[in-house]
Amino acid sequence: MNNKDLFISFKNKLMEIHRLQSAVGLLHWDMQTYMPPAGARERSDTIATLAALIHDKFTSVKFEKELKTLRQKQDLNAREKSIINEVWRDFSRQKKLPRDFVKELARASSEGHAIWVEARKKSNFKLFQPQLEKLIQLKRKEAQLVGFKESPYDALIDVFEPRMTAAELSPIFYELREFLVPLVKKIRSSKVKPKKSLIRGDFPIAEQKKFSEKVIAKIGFNLERGRLDTAVHPFCIQFHPHDVRITTRYNTEDLLYCLTSVIHEAGHALYEQGILPENFGTPLGESISLGVHESQSRLWENIVGRSIPFWQFFYPLLQKTFPTPFSKVSLRYFYQVVNSVKSSFIRTEADEVTYNLHIILRFEIEKELIEGSIEVKDLPKIWNAKVKELLGLNVPNDAKGVLQDVHWSEGLFGYFPTYTLGNLYAAQFYEAAKRDIPKLEERISRGHFQPLLKWLRENIHIHGKFYSADELVRKVTGKPLTAEPFIKYIKSKYSKIYRI
Ligand code: CO
Repeated sequence: MNNKDLFISFKNKLMEIHRLQSAVGLLHWDMQTYMPPAGARERSDTIATLAALIHDKFTSVKFEKELKTLRQKQDLNAREKSIINEVWRDFSRQKKLPRDFVKELARASSEGHAIWVEARKKSNFKLFQPQLEKLIQLKRKEAQLVGFKESPYDALIDVFEPRMTAAELSPIFYELREFLVPLVKKIRSSKVKPKKSLIRGDFPIAEQKKFSEKVIAKIGFNLERGRLDTAVHPFCIQFHPHDVRITTRYNTEDLLYCLTSVIHEAGHALYEQGILPENFGTPLGESISLGVHESQSRLWENIVGRSIPFWQFFYPLLQKTFPTPFSKVSLRYFYQVVNSVKSSFIRTEADEVTYNLHIILRFEIEKELIEGSIEVKDLPKIWNAKVKELLGLNVPNDAKGVLQDVHWSEGLFGYFPTYTLGNLYAAQFYEAAKRDIPKLEERISRGHFQPLLKWLRENIHIHGKFYSADELVRKVTGKPLTAEPFIKYIKSKYSKIYRI
């Protein structure tokens, strides 16, 4: 086979794998939206069957042979090389993990989830401790099997944020911590105390959905290539750039509960709808990393969706749609409420300032757990001390503390940092967008979102995995990742809101 034919044959195999993955994705989506409860068991079996099929295709002798041959070819173009390199990264990691190990980890993770649910319900960490110890042993073993240069934690971060390391993250997160802790203290003692109760009301779900769809359609979410449905947890899932779905949940008294999460998920969806269909099935049709993905959701949800220009455009529509309570609330006051900052126990309920402290806490703990410098049995004590230090709060129980997140119970270690990376990338990208697009915020205030979306498409979305996160950030912003743009953004925004 010549190069061209070999590459086509290989690409077809990738496409087949990807289509199977889309089918699994659709089954998952259905499971969380419309599936009747009694369908759960059979559905899990169907998904497991398909997952085994995908695994067999990805590790077949023929697939491996073609991949290895293509790796040796010198005359591939840059895009073809990038595809081969990225698939190889994935493939060689999987190859290093013995089948029995993968099975054991999968079992420990699904058991872990059930045990965690019970432990959280009873707010008793001791019930979860033995399983968490087991999971950490397995994750440390995974790191040994995969290999790493400095910290075993690096081998785990790599799954979610390829090529990122703890050594690179530590100084950036430290700088952020040193900035945020005193800022949160200052905000706490400010006289400005926006009252959320003023924007409470009675918002019928159907009306909320209609309004949310208007907002996301206006910023560029294509409803011909996507849907908005209801699920317990908001998420975004894609089967193809022409079929990208998001979900939300509703609170009839609090409109922002739904709206902000819809804008967040729409930010993820805009990334997926911006992937080039011709790259579907290859790494060039995939997002760079979870951190870069999260940068898109945070950029739209927070930097744009909680800004004055954004609401200058949308607030009149909001007041018209829901005259009670908004006709009596000024745009200024609404803006303050939307951006109110308050330390809280629960990460998922945190605002954009305190959120990162929740992540820094988890990052510091995870790193030490995996490196073995702290022990699982001491976790509640360590957790509570850090919450006191970072957020100034006394944790009342394990459910509101160390047991609140699902991630560790499912063996997801190295995932948390991507949330804060998302905030940092978002601020750095947005700073570059403002540099490149004249009068960006004035345009946003007139409802012109196209220039920003076009910029994100051209600079980020269409590239897929062609650049690494580090290469892309340098290329687009002229600098490596730093906390500086985020710190500048937060400082300027919140010093005005809280007059500090
Ligand atoms: Co997100």
